[in-house]
Formats: sequence, structure tokens, C-alpha cells
Amino acid sequence: MAASDYPLLFSEWQLRRTSIPNRVVFAPTCPTWVTNPVDGCFTDQAVAYYEERARNGCGLIIIGSNVIREDALLAHLMFPGIWDDRQIEGLARIREACHRHGCKVAVQLLHPGMRSMAVIQKDSTYDFDAAWHTVAPSQVPPGEWPNAPMPKELEDDEIVDIINSFGAAARRVSEAGLDGIEYHLAHGYLPWQFLSPLYNHRTDRWGGSLENRLRFSLDSFQAMREQGGDELFIGYRINSTSFWEGDLETNHLNEVIEAIQVSADIDYVSVSAGVHHSFIHTPMTYPPGWEREYTRAAKQVSTKPVLAVGRITNPSIAEDILSTGDADAILLGRQFFADAEWVTKVKEGREDDIRRCVAANYCWRTATSGGRVQCIYNPEQGRERLWNAETLTPVADPKKVLVVGGGPAALEFARIAAARGHGVTVLEREQETGGHVRVQAGLPDRGEFGFIATWLAAQARKNGAEIRTGFEVTEARLDEVLATETPDHIVVATGCVNRRDGWNGQTVSPVAGWETGNCMSWYDVIDGKSTATGKVVVIDDLQDITGPMTAVKLAQEGCDVTIVSRWPMIAMETMPEVYYLWTREALTKANIPTITDHACVRIEGRTVELINVYAPDRVTTLEADAIVFNTGRYSENRLYHVLKERGMSVEMIGDAVAPRGTFEAVYEGHRAGRRI
Ligand SMILES: Cc1cc2nc3c(=O)[nH]c(=O)nc-3n(C[C@H](O)[C@H](O)[C@H](O)COP(=O)(O)OP(=O)(O)OC[C@H]3O[C@@H](n4cnc5c(N)ncnc54)[C@H](O)[C@@H]3O)c2cc1C
Ligand SMILES: Cc1cc2nc3c(=O)[nH]c(=O)nc-3n(C[C@H](O)[C@H](O)[C@H](O)COP(=O)(O)O)c2cc1C
Ligand code: SF4
Repeated sequence: MAASDYPLLFSEWQLRRTSIPNRVVFAPTCPTWVTNPVDGCFTDQAVAYYEERARNGCGLIIIGSNVIREDALLAHLMFPGIWDDRQIEGLARIREACHRHGCKVAVQLLHPGMRSMAVIQKDSTYDFDAAWHTVAPSQVPPGEWPNAPMPKELEDDEIVDIINSFGAAARRVSEAGLDGIEYHLAHGYLPWQFLSPLYNHRTDRWGGSLENRLRFSLDSFQAMREQGGDELFIGYRINSTSFWEGDLETNHLNEVIEAIQVSADIDYVSVSAGVHHSFIHTPMTYPPGWEREYTRAAKQVSTKPVLAVGRITNPSIAEDILSTGDADAILLGRQFFADAEWVTKVKEGREDDIRRCVAANYCWRTATSGGRVQCIYNPEQGRERLWNAETLTPVADPKKVLVVGGGPAALEFARIAAARGHGVTVLEREQETGGHVRVQAGLPDRGEFGFIATWLAAQARKNGAEIRTGFEVTEARLDEVLATETPDHIVVATGCVNRRDGWNGQTVSPVAGWETGNCMSWYDVIDGKSTATGKVVVIDDLQDITGPMTAVKLAQEGCDVTIVSRWPMIAMETMPEVYYLWTREALTKANIPTITDHACVRIEGRTVELINVYAPDRVTTLEADAIVFNTGRYSENRLYHVLKERGMSVEMIGDAVAPRGTFEAVYEGHRAGRRI
């Protein structure tokens, strides 16, 4: 397949007076390439980041949320600002870089309303004079976390002031020479808070009827047009479904779209699901293009182009959405994190080379923890100035490199080092490569995760690496392996071992009597090396997706499963990836009882003894034919030390260094592959 197979996707289209070379649009995603959130100015890295997508053929980039007022900052999150003229220059530099490649640029304007957070500079000597409250149409707090701040109800003159700020931001966008603006009327932010009766309980001219609830947005459109000028295209992003009882839903959407197009001079509608207490960037169980039914509904009334989003990762889906008339342009969000070269690869007929977004949502974890947006298996994301296709240069003196282990760290190393001309051989003891990633893909509904390993292995082979499976490198075999392979350098990527004795970070010792029970690790259960039947107790200490989903899998296989944790909740660690609701729903549907605040202290054969962590004298016992632990891990790196002692050129990467996550493993593989 090549560009000609996707005639609509690669057809020119128009927004107001701007011609856009194709219908591939980088969805607004909060850019995190700023000096700091209080300053809010774009960095050189921001320019490189957007230019890389533009250089690779993206038709239109909508830079994500730019905060329009200093008093509406989103806490420590690295959002750019557009409340001050000094912020124009950074935008202008991005525009200039993207226009060089024919890519058009718009920017999304954001006021989070009650989803702002009082911001303080981390510098402890800085005396910050903040508004120590958020604002909203009515006193309704965010519903997504306990005791969330109750906002101040906006006064009439304050509302007018905010509308003027939208106008002033539009003037700055125009001065930066951008092509357009997107007004953020989705995802539960201030304009949506005015529109939705869930949040807006006012009885004045800003609340009540649809006309009143839309007044804030219509006045904002007018202010943006007045101050931004006639050239800029102005579109808006609006929610399709909020997945939230009591909020506006799809059946209200068309009424709103019609009302806006009658009263405002706008140029497109972008339809997007979710509010922050639900899914915006949906989990991997949502099929590619799943939001098209919502744009189809919008298309029935919209006289303006409608933009579709939602797990669109391959061009066939994109073309199909366009050809069925479900939308006029296609937004790629996370897919453009995972692969900046998406358009180039599609045009060149290299679809197999696309690093497909697997919806792991590590990107969301990193952005919302105040860091830069990172992709779980694209370490170039956010380092475009240093790491790009052009800096992946061939080596003058190719080496023979032996890689022990075939998990993500090893495979990424092999992919990169082989691309640079090194002779790479990977030896993996299992019949298949992929390590922990492969095993995690065996959990219910986590199959997509396995694509990370499949893609890495295929790309490594394509670049010339040799991968041999079913070959364990043991100490006993080391001489033989070294004599046969004669490596100049060895990379140890042997990962870690999941414990089956209940060792955890609190007790720092195995559970007493574990040898007497039928104890196993989640890893061995999913990998088929251990079998659990009958009554099963899963002891979960790590709080990630693995413990609960192992429990679900065992329940689906007919086991009578109970999950136990010493923590107050199950799956706490899945929250930053927005997999908490998903995991809990799976546990609940599988009818798995959960026991929290209880630590496993002893095992005697089939008896598992638990204590209440707040009242240790309260003891509970459970019967178990099998006890499955998700509690601790340790690095498997003995070979590294042996080789180092022998004076060999050797290094360690991934979990072999210290057990962590896939991102770190792939990152270290990539870095080592570029350095050698
Ligand atoms: C409970 C749990 C949950 C996790 N959940 C997540 C998550 O949600 N998100 C996330 O990002 N990460 C998660 N991870 C971590 C992630 O899967 C690992 O960090 C990552 O796979 C490590 O990659 P690696 O290549 O270093 O090691 P591994 O993936 O462990 O690969 C090592 C490979 O080396 C092979 N090997 C070992 N010794 C030898 C030898 N002597 N000879 C030949 N081959 C050998 C092994 O068979 C294996 O295939 C989780 C891990 C665990 C244990
Ligand atoms: C890290 C991250 C940041 C995002 N920031 C924004 C944003 O600033 N504005 C916005 O409208 N949507 C934002 N989104 C939502 C995306 O635009 C998009 O709607 C969502 O990711 C679903 O599309 P996808 O499946 O192609 O990723 C963000 C998503 C992610 C993962
Ligand atoms: S971290 Fe996961 S969800 Fe985010 S872009 Fe990468 S593959 Fe997609």
C-alpha cells in the first residue's frame, strides 16, 4: 500500500482561507516542552518536536492546550501559556519550522475552570501571589478525586474578563502568524462547565436554557474573531460522550453544533469523547476508530468540516472513516507520540514499520506527573533534536555484539545497533522473544501490549540483527558461547525474576512457611510454567495491572479466586495510566472478592494467614490450593558480573540493572544502541 491507496487521506482540503495538504492532523495534546509552567514559553525542543512531525508530512498540527490566563494554570503540569506577549515568540518559531515543510499550524486555547489548580513555583524562596481558588460557573468540584477543591462561583464581570482573555489570546495567535485556533469546549474544562447542566446551576444570563449556557462560548468566539482577525480559522473541540451520568451526551450534541454554527463564525468541529474522570485516551480494548459513530452523528447537522479521533493507528481505518463520510479529517493523538514518521511510512508503503500506539498510556502518566510526554517504546519522543532518523548514523568500525536476553531492552538495542551497522546476535532462552512484555500480553485484554515486543523483534531482524530463541546462556556454557560468537562487546539484558515467596518491600523477607504452600509468581502462571486450580489466593503488593488481571484470568478459567493486598486499594498504581476503572471493572465483573488492608504473614500448607495491618491481632485465614504472588522482583544479572570479572567489554540494560518498566528498558536499549 502507498499514498495512492489512500486518496482521501492524502487529499487537500480547506479551512477558511487555509489550504491543508492532507487530512492527517496531529490531535491537540498538551505540549510539555516549556521552560516551566509559570513561565509557559516554548523551548527549542518544542520546535524540534513539532518540526519532526511536519517534516514527515503531517498536514495540520493543532498544538494542544495553551492556557489563556495566568490565574488558570494547571498546577505543576508543563503547559504552555498564551496570556502574555512574551509567549508569542515561541509559537512563531514553531509556526515557522512547520510551515517550512508545508504543514499548517493551529493552537488550542484552554481555560480549565474548576479543573485548574493553584500553582506554586517549586523554588521555595519565591513568594507566589496566587488566586488560591479555582473558578467555575457554579460551586461544583471535579468529581474525579476525593475532596477536590470547590471553585469560586464566577461573577458577571469576571466572566466577561475571561471572555476578553480568549480574545487577547487570539490576537497573540494571529501575531505569531499561525493558521488557526481551536477553542477547547470539551473534556470538562470551563467552556464545557458553562455548557453542561451537570456543572452549570446558574439562574442568570449564563445559566438555565441552552442559549444561556452557550453564551460564554458564543461570546468567546466573537471575542476571538474580533481580536484574532478574519484570516485565522477558528474551530472548536466538543465532547461526544462524557461517559458520566448526568452530563451532556451525544443526543444533545447536534443541538449544540447547530446553535453554534448559526450564531458564530467558526470553521470546523472536532468531536472527542471523555472528561477527566472517564476515558479521553481510551484503553487498548477500544478498537481503532471507535469514535466514528459520534462524528457520523455530528456530520448530519454540521455545515463545517468534522474531525474524528480515537485510536486511529492505521491508514485503512482513516481512509474508511473519510470514504464513508463519517468525518472530513483524521486526528492522530498518541499515534504521533509513538511514531513521528507515520505519514512518511504510509506514503512509502512501509506500514509494517509503523510503531503502532498500543494505548498503554504511559504518555499520560508522564505528562500528568509534571514531566515531559514520553512514549513507552519510542524513546525519540521529546528528544527530536538529538535522536532522530538523521542522527542514527552508520558506524565507522562495526563491532560484533552479543546480546543475552530477548526482552524489550535487548530488542531495542538490537534494532538500533544493527541499524548502525553493528553485527548483533541476540540469544533468548525462551522459544519466543519479548520477555515480560510477551507475558503481560497473556493477561486478559492486554494482548495489544505484546505488539511492543513483536514490532521490536521484527524491526531488529529487518535491520540485520540475528535473533536465536531457545538458547540459554548459562555460566557453564559461557566459554562455549564466547568461543563461537567471538563478541567484541556483550550486552546483558536478562531482566528480572518475579518472586514466588511473598517477599515484599515492607517485610524485606519471604512469607513464613511459603515453602509449605503451593506458591507461585503471577509471571509463571501467565507463562504457563505454574498451574493454579481450585481455591486461589492472589497476594498483590505491586498494585499494577498484573495482580488483578492474573486473578481475572484464573477466575475465567474456573478458579475460585480472592485477591488480597496490604494496601487500602487494589490497582492503585494503574491510575496514572487511566487503567484503574478498567481494571476494577474487570475484577468486579469476574466476581472476585477483594480483601484490602491485610498482609499475608504466614502460610501453612493450604492455610493462608492474614493480619489486619491496623489491628495486627485480628487474624483472618483463607484456604488456598494455590497462592499467587505479585509482590517483589530482583534483577537477574549474574552473567554481567562474571563477564566483568573476566575483563570482558560488557554492559547491562533494562531490568537486569534494576527492575522497572518497559519505558526504561527500551530507553536504555536505545541509548546503548546509539552509543556503541
Ligand atoms: C508485575 C509486573 C508488572 C509490570 N507491568 C508493567 C506495566 O504495566 N508497564 C510497564 O511499562 N512495565 C511493566 N512491567 C515491567 C516490564 O515488563 C519490564 O520492565 C520490561 O519487560 C523489562 O525489560 P527487559 O528487556 O529488561 O527484561 P525482560 O522483559 O525480563 O527480558 C529479559 C529476557 O531475557 C531472557 N533471559 C534471561 N536470562 C537469560 C539467559 N541466561 N539466556 C538467555 N535469555 C535469558 C528472559 O527469558 C527474557 O525474555 C511489569 C513487570 C512486572 C514484573
Ligand atoms: C498526553 C496526552 C495529552 C493530551 N492533551 C490534550 C489537550 O491538551 N487537549 C485536548 O483537547 N486533548 C488532549 N488529549 C486527548 C487527545 O487529543 C486525543 O483526543 C486522545 O488521545 C484520543 O486520541 P488517540 O486515541 O489518537 O490518542 C491528550 C491526550 C494525551 C494522551
Ligand atoms: S505510551 Fe502507549 S499510549 Fe502513549 S503513545 Fe506510547 S504506545 Fe501509545
